[in-house]
Amino acid sequence: MRPKFYLFALCATASWLTAENSRADLVATNSFSIGTKNFTLNFEVGHDGRLYQRAIGATAVNEKLLRTDESYPQAGDGYVWEPALQITHADGNTSTSLIFDNLTRTTDNTGREITQIQLHDPAYPVQVALNFRADQARDVIEQWTKIVNHESGVVTLERMASSSLVFAPTNVHLTHFFGDWAKEMLQPITEPITPGTKVLDSKLGVRADQFQNPSFVVSLDGPPQETGGRVLAGSLEWSGSFQCAFDDNGENIHALCGVNPFASAYHLNPGETFTTPKMIWVWSANGLGDMSRKLHSWARDYGMRDGHKTRAVLLNNWEATGFDFNFNRIVGLYDPAKEIGTELFLLDDGWFGNKYPRVNDHAGLGDWQPNKKRLPEGLAPLASEAVKRGLRFGIWLEPEMVNPKSELFEQHPEWVIAQPKRALELQRNQMVLDLTRPAVQAFEWSNISNILSVPDITYAKWDCNRYLTQPGSSYLAAGRQSHLWIDYVTALYALMDKTAKTFPDTELMLCSGGGGRVDYGALKYFQEFWPSDNTDPTQRVPMQWDYSYFFPPMAIASHVTHWGNRPMHFACSVAMSARFGMDLDLNKLSAADKAVCAGAISAYKQIRDVTAFGDLYRLENPHETFRGAINFVSPDRARAVMFAFQLKDGEATPVHPQGLDPAKNYTVHELNPAPGRAAIPAAGKTFTGEELMRDGIVPSCAHAVEASVIEISS
Ligand code: GLA
Repeated sequence: MRPKFYLFALCATASWLTAENSRADLVATNSFSIGTKNFTLNFEVGHDGRLYQRAIGATAVNEKLLRTDESYPQAGDGYVWEPALQITHADGNTSTSLIFDNLTRTTDNTGREITQIQLHDPAYPVQVALNFRADQARDVIEQWTKIVNHESGVVTLERMASSSLVFAPTNVHLTHFFGDWAKEMLQPITEPITPGTKVLDSKLGVRADQFQNPSFVVSLDGPPQETGGRVLAGSLEWSGSFQCAFDDNGENIHALCGVNPFASAYHLNPGETFTTPKMIWVWSANGLGDMSRKLHSWARDYGMRDGHKTRAVLLNNWEATGFDFNFNRIVGLYDPAKEIGTELFLLDDGWFGNKYPRVNDHAGLGDWQPNKKRLPEGLAPLASEAVKRGLRFGIWLEPEMVNPKSELFEQHPEWVIAQPKRALELQRNQMVLDLTRPAVQAFEWSNISNILSVPDITYAKWDCNRYLTQPGSSYLAAGRQSHLWIDYVTALYALMDKTAKTFPDTELMLCSGGGGRVDYGALKYFQEFWPSDNTDPTQRVPMQWDYSYFFPPMAIASHVTHWGNRPMHFACSVAMSARFGMDLDLNKLSAADKAVCAGAISAYKQIRDVTAFGDLYRLENPHETFRGAINFVSPDRARAVMFAFQLKDGEATPVHPQGLDPAKNYTVHELNPAPGRAAIPAAGKTFTGEELMRDGIVPSCAHAVEASVIEISS
């Protein structure tokens, strides 16, 4: 399709603003908007030629443009708050002044409209294009920026935000998620945005998160609510150091999101282009529930692989065996796995390394040859033994890492990311390989492709168990060390993309020592992510609740383990509300627990299309009350499934499902009821959707660590 093209006449005698007159009134000369069904960004070009954005959430349209309304503010020529762009030009000038050039609208091959706003600096031939892709029905706008250097010398990008939306400062709140290893997404924080700059960021290089997740919610009507109020979710598509700065300058708030400018100056040669990662914004005027459902639907289409396929029930050996296994021990897990109904076996860490066997986490990473003592015939017989028994086979990889105790490190000590003249700082006894080096890229690809080419391997878990603490590259030139942060992630995405394209039928789990890489930058190459090594179901209830603001439960891997020593029925019920798997030694499980697992797997197979493709309704917030409750409704509203997870003792009060068809008749059944518990009062009875939503359903759980899974079908 030919782009539509808009060009506005600019006032040639525009008076340039300085910091002193930055509050001067400017009259808009032209305006345009970019929007979806319910979400519009309104832009104006001022008499000075600059691009302004009318603040989101402003109660009345302010006729006067202020310099603080600038859409993508640049440092050095009058704008004194947090800039979106900061460039040092080839001649050393540290200012940039962008004026509006033109606007084009095109449609991509998915039917979504892309608007490109071209800006340029009249004094320096640097071109900046702001790009917006709008998903009309889902109210999702992705924004990213392209910067082209047409100067004759090198320019340096000191800051280059993906997006910088402007909000009116009226009761705006920010909800964000702090955490740590095994505590990911467990601490939602909601706070008003107040004058000054609030920064959410990370400086970890090879992953976005250890402490701060790159997804958040801005709410415009006070703290966000589940079923009402204006909310905007933001999520950065980037698996490296990021920064989201909420800069409240008293007049309005800029949300500046992108790669972290920390130590990341990026030099652009003449003719080179820098493209920022994409920032995802999702709007709802009806609260967090509606916001999430739109984002989940977008994610199934564009944010992840195979968003329209259900997932096989998985059995992982990590919690069962750790590093302690051999061929026979693994094959011994297959028959009981098949017996209880699992469909896919994942062999975790510990299968490789010969000179330095991977028998613990001190050695072997980097030497990706199967250990001859444990697996004398390699991986293929393990995989074919699984397939013979009707199970698929998957494998664990950590392609980016190396233990100093490895043949790889002996041969290529210069391949690790480290700082010269500093002692190597290990995390989990390992170092990160320098992916900016082409030889490392080729090495990692050859390992990935060799392993995934083993016949019958159709699943892999891609792990990354440390982050950068000494960001030095012996490959990059002295003057290009600051490129490491960005070039690493770009090379990583190239590797992930090649893996997904070369092995289209191999499912991939994204893992980073727990949930370090839970972001849409990487997820587009994966079917699912590992949210946390913490699998205690009492912790998973609030954790999965929080992840579900941004990610569809079908992408959230949830395995039954012995963490927390919770009752098996509770653990299974929690895991089957997301992407269901198990990490148990089935040979050591009691007959009673095995029966509970088998019942949960069979129930999950019955409802997995509803939990994968249905709309999610969050009903009772486990952070606020004695239980957590959610329900899913199939797209045709013919079927639903409701989960109640009791965290503390409390009354067995009704849980009110949402999203049902009020006029439809639904019959209620409890799935895989806990042994010995009385049937729910509504069991086998039929009600209209209206009755069920109004009167609720009393679940069978009444005490802490009990759960109830209820199918509602027409
Ligand atoms: C990380 C992962 C675990 C497991 C181990 C293996 O910690 O999060 O699930 O795979 O690595 O070493």
